Amino acid sequence: MKKRGVYSPFLNGATSVFRFWYGTILFGSILLDQPEASLSMIKIKKLCKFCDTQVTNCSGTGSCKVECDITAICPHANEVCVSIWRKKDNNVTLETLCYNPAHKLYGLVLEDYNNSKCEMKEKKGMGSEFFICSCSEDECNEHVFFTSSFPFGPSDSLDSQVVSVILVSLVPLLVLAVLVITSFYFYRVYRQHHATSKRKKGPPVDFSDAHAIMMDDEGSDISSTHANNLNHNTELLPIELDVQVGKGRFAEVYRAKLKQGSSAGEQAFETVAVKIFPDEEYASWKNEKDIFSDADLRHENVLHFLTAEERKVQKQYWLITAYHPRGNLQEYLTRHIISWQDLWLLGGSLARGVAHLHSDHTPCGRYKVPIVHRDIKSSNILVNSDLTCCLCDFGLGLRLDNSLSVDELANSGQVGTARYMAPEVLESRINLENIESFKQTDVYSMALVLWEITSRCSAVGEVKEYEPPFGKVREHPCVESMKDSVLRDRGRPEIPNSWINHPGIQMVCATIDECWDHDPEARLTAQCVAERFSDMEHLDKLSGRSDSEEKIPEEISVVDEK
Ligand code: ADE
Repeated sequence: MKKRGVYSPFLNGATSVFRFWYGTILFGSILLDQPEASLSMIKIKKLCKFCDTQVTNCSGTGSCKVECDITAICPHANEVCVSIWRKKDNNVTLETLCYNPAHKLYGLVLEDYNNSKCEMKEKKGMGSEFFICSCSEDECNEHVFFTSSFPFGPSDSLDSQVVSVILVSLVPLLVLAVLVITSFYFYRVYRQHHATSKRKKGPPVDFSDAHAIMMDDEGSDISSTHANNLNHNTELLPIELDVQVGKGRFAEVYRAKLKQGSSAGEQAFETVAVKIFPDEEYASWKNEKDIFSDADLRHENVLHFLTAEERKVQKQYWLITAYHPRGNLQEYLTRHIISWQDLWLLGGSLARGVAHLHSDHTPCGRYKVPIVHRDIKSSNILVNSDLTCCLCDFGLGLRLDNSLSVDELANSGQVGTARYMAPEVLESRINLENIESFKQTDVYSMALVLWEITSRCSAVGEVKEYEPPFGKVREHPCVESMKDSVLRDRGRPEIPNSWINHPGIQMVCATIDECWDHDPEARLTAQCVAERFSDMEHLDKLSGRSDSEEKIPEEISVVDEK
C-alpha cells in the first residue's frame, strides 16, 4: 500500500487557492530547514487522484474519467500522478496514485511522467491486460487516454509503429523510383545528345525548304526524314504528278516528281508515288496513314512511306511513298516468266514482309503492334528492283493492339477481295477471340499469291499464260461464287503433277498446300513460310539460274479488282 499524501475532499473546486497557501508554507519550511537550499531546488508537490485500486467501467479504449473522488497532495515533491488499468477474468480495475518516477512501479520504469496528459500504454507480461500512464500536471491522472488496445511492443505506441512500418516499406521503393526515373532521364539525354552529334557528323542537310526532306539515311534516293509522319507544314511538298500507274478501290496512284533544290539552273527531282484519295475516302486515307505512321512497320518488304498530306484546295488526301518502276506483282507475272531463283526471291521476300507485319516484335526484339493486311493479293504487292516483293495498300489493314475489343473486331466485318478470301472470311466465321485468326486469313491469301508466282516459273515445266487464282483477270468473282468454289467444293487452284518434278517447286507446293488449309489453325505462320524459303535456297538442281524472260513487252495497265 502506497502512502497517501494530504487528503482533502475540499481540494476539488478550490484546489488552486489551497495549493497556493500550502505551497507557500512548504516553501517557507524548506527555507528554514535548509537555509543553504537555493530557489532552483524547490519543487511544488503535485495534486493527483489517489484512490488505489477501484473497480471501473472504463473499457480500456478511447478515454475514461476515473471514478475517484480523492484528490491528494502527493507526499513528496518529486512524485507524479499515475493511473493503471487492469483487466483479468472480466474484472476491470483502475488504480490511481502518486509515485516517484525514480523508482520502478510493478517492475516498470515510468517513461512518460513528464507528459501533461495521462496516455495509457499497454505493457505485456504483467499477468493481466495491463495499461499504465504517468503525468506531471495537477490531477492529470483523472482523465486517461488509451492510444490503442492493440498488443504492440511494451512501450511503442501504435502510431509510431505504423509510421515506422510505412517508412520502412516506402523509403526503399521511393529511392528505387527516383533512381529509375533519374537513370531514364539521363539515358534519354544521352540518346538525344548521341543522335544530335550523329546527325551533325552526317552529310549536311538543307532544311531551308521542303525539298530538304528527301535525303535518305540509308543512302537511297528516298527520304525518311519525314517518313511515318503527317506533313504538318503549311507548305506542301513541291510535287508534280506525272502519269497514273494504278487504281484501287479507294484511290488512284500516280508516278510523280518531288522537286529538289535546283542546281546550275536545272531542277533536280526524285521520283515518288502519290496515292490520291478523294474527299469522300478520307476514312481510308486515315486508316492507311495511321498504319504507315507506325515506325515499326518499316521493312525492306513493306512499301516505304514518306508522308501524308491534306490537299485542302483540291479536297484530296495524299499518301506519298517510294515509287517502284517494276509495278505490281500481277503486272510483273503477266509480262514475265520467272526462274526458280526469281521464284525463291519473290516468294521468300513476300513471306518475310507478311511475317514482319504479323510479328509482335521488331528485328531488335522490341515490342511492336502486330498488323494484319486483310487484302493480300498480287496487285497489292510491288516488285523491287532486286526482284523482291514489297507489300502495299494498307487501306484495309488492322492494328491488332490489345485495346481492340471483340466488338471492334467484329465490326471490322468481311473485308478483302472475294477471290483471295479465306473460307472462314467468306462465311464470316472468324474466331474474334484470337488475333491469330486474322493472321491466318492473310496466310491463306499469301498461299494464293505463292501459287500465282509458281505458275509463272519455268521450273514447273510448260508455263501457261498468267491467270489469277480462280479464274480470269478481268472476271471479278463475287463472294457468293467464291463460297461455292472454296467452301462448298473445297476447291483450290490446281497444282499439276508436272510441277513437283523440281525439288524446290515440290517444297513450295507443299508449303502452299499447308497455307491454304481449310482449317485456319492448321495453316503455317508467315514466319514459318519465310524459314522454309530460306531452307530452299539451294534446291534449284534442275533449273539453274535463268534471267526472267520478258513475255509481253508492251505496257499494260492493270486495274485492281474491286
Ligand atoms: N502502284 C501502286 N503503288 C505504286 C508504287 N508505289 N510504285 C509503283 N506503282 C505503284
